[in-house]
Amino acid sequence: MARQRATLSQGATEHGAKRTTAMSESPAAARHVAPVGLRDRLAFGVVRLLGFVADRLFARRYGHRAVVLETVAAVPGMVGGTLQHLRALRRMKSDRGRIRILLDEAENERMHLMTFIEVTQPTAFERGLVVLVQGVFYNLFFLLYLTSPYTAHRLVAYLEEAAVHSYTEYLASVDSGACRNVPAPAIAINYWKLAPDARLREVIVAVRADEAHHRDVNHRLADRQI
Ligand SMILES: [Fe+2]
Ligand SMILES: [Fe+2]
Repeated sequence: MARQRATLSQGATEHGAKRTTAMSESPAAARHVAPVGLRDRLAFGVVRLLGFVADRLFARRYGHRAVVLETVAAVPGMVGGTLQHLRALRRMKSDRGRIRILLDEAENERMHLMTFIEVTQPTAFERGLVVLVQGVFYNLFFLLYLTSPYTAHRLVAYLEEAAVHSYTEYLASVDSGACRNVPAPAIAINYWKLAPDARLREVIVAVRADEAHHRDVNHRLADRQI
């Protein structure tokens, strides 16, 4: 099915603007792309289901939620980068920069994990869950990307929308005092070039901005129907 393209991060097209809904006062949290068509609805439905499961598992334990979910979030960029690499080799054509974008996304997500592991230690159950989920998710996402890169990127974009929402809630819990605003880990201060006396709040704001960027990039890649 032919689909109009929408550039979402800068100067959204008319179509993109129509599908984009403001959700909060924060620029990082202000964008939702409404699902259009079966593949979008499928991707959105899967993300809602995963969000429901995550809510049951973690409730308001945002640090634990971040650690476990970042182990999942770091998978799609590596899968997409690998498959784009193989595709460029097969077709003997330029990847138009997609490989670097996707591998950078995977590395960025891994840095989120390395940061939050300094803030929260996962339980033995959560470590086991990570191993199980990685085994299932890597293979399913690989097959999805192989058969429908469009749906794969839309799925990631909706996961990133959910991540932005989740970090916004984490931020609110820090602001309310429910979560301690501990000093930022050194790895985070170096990576995001934060002030030496930065706290968890600044880290969450930086991570949320990364997730918003991933969201926009993946919606854009989906719209390009690669
Ligand atoms: Fe992340
Ligand atoms: Fe992300």
